[in-house]
Amino acid sequence: MATGAGDRSTELYERALRVLPGGVSRNTVLRKPRPAYAARGQGCRIWDLEGRERLDFSNNMASLIHGHAHPAIIAAVGEQLRLGTAFTMATEQEVVCAEALCARGRFDRIRFVNSGTEAVMASLKASRAFTGRAKIAKTEGAYHGFYDYAEVSQTAQPGTWGSPDRPAGVPVAEGTPPSVLDDVVVIPFNDAVRARAILDRHAGELACVMIDLLPHRIGLVPADPEYVRALRQWCDRNGALLVFDEVITFRCGYGGAKDGYGVVPDLSALGKIIGGGFPVGAIAGRAEVMEVLNPLAPKVRLPHSGTFSANPITMVAGHAAMSLFDTAEVERLNGLGARARHLIAEAIAVAGVEASVSGGGSLFRIHFKPRPPRNYREALATPAESARLRLLLDHLFSAGFLMVETGTGVLSTPMTDREIDKLAQAVLEGLRAVSTAAVAEESR
Ligand SMILES: Cc1ncc(COP(=O)(O)O)c(C=O)c1O
Repeated sequence: MATGAGDRSTELYERALRVLPGGVSRNTVLRKPRPAYAARGQGCRIWDLEGRERLDFSNNMASLIHGHAHPAIIAAVGEQLRLGTAFTMATEQEVVCAEALCARGRFDRIRFVNSGTEAVMASLKASRAFTGRAKIAKTEGAYHGFYDYAEVSQTAQPGTWGSPDRPAGVPVAEGTPPSVLDDVVVIPFNDAVRARAILDRHAGELACVMIDLLPHRIGLVPADPEYVRALRQWCDRNGALLVFDEVITFRCGYGGAKDGYGVVPDLSALGKIIGGGFPVGAIAGRAEVMEVLNPLAPKVRLPHSGTFSANPITMVAGHAAMSLFDTAEVERLNGLGARARHLIAEAIAVAGVEASVSGGGSLFRIHFKPRPPRNYREALATPAESARLRLLLDHLFSAGFLMVETGTGVLSTPMTDREIDKLAQAVLEGLRAVSTAAVAEESR
């Protein structure tokens, strides 16, 4: 990335380093030698402080379904701003938004929170409250946000992850209480036989099994329908709940990625796109389970509030965004996603580089591996693969494309074939640059 000493972003970063650890408020925006500072966005384009324009294939980590500054969302939020932004009163806006999401996702009940992290935390706590059990199960390597229990084994490494038959519970943060590790059961992704054997060892202790149907950090490969059915069956036989983390994947079908599986979870954690660009999360699901949140019950099993939960700005923005993302738009955007994956696969073949592309719906991810990984252990990049990805991402950034730092791309509805074709061309050029660098490295 070209940076000039004395440019505004470099000066800002120097100031930021004095007040923010590492100079940022979220690790995902860190780039070397400094983060890029956004000035504005419009549709699928974004401009930095130096005035450079890029196509936005990150969409604030998959949270923007219509890109930036959609007129309908601006109008809805503008009107609500004049009426007030937060009240210690219920609002009509939360009822309207809840009705629409319940109808769309075929949920009996929903409750709003302020982030995906909170939605996952609420799902795990609701599962414990419903079953009276302490343990939860999750897939190795899956990212579910910042809650201690949800984090376990997200960054496990070969030296710590243990055998595939008994994956170790590995903490992410220093200081994670050992009791947290004791209460999390780690299962492999897309391996029903091993997952069942591990779960069987904890039958009667597990409150829930939580999975993401298209887990980003595991490699953005879809969950195998047989695996999902096996987990549903195991949960039914053993009195545990099945939780889908659809914080990212709700964009993949009109009612979420679960539409493609025919499997009904007990609870779903939602977030990102349902807030229309504002902070949001939600826990949704079966009435009997959601009853644990009912403050009118004789005994409230899971008391829950949250100062900004269901604030009317998020509610009107989310409702406007989701109303525009109707079945036709979901289908069109998923079609564009398929086109992106197809053209990137072609670019990989033309460039003759050892790489592959995975994904589903309006998401794709590039790997410097000959085949898309099948689980976290396969997805973990070697230092050489990471170096190639860095080269590709830097090339794309300089060429005017903002991607997620894992090599993932996220589409938005303002995009058309034109943007996808431009991206595929830039990926081809980037892969050629990677290939040239690899040849130079080998001949040294
Ligand atoms: C699958 C999944 N779950 C949960 C989260 C946490 O959401 P948030 O960043 O809104 O806390 C994320 C965030 O990227 C996610 O990808």
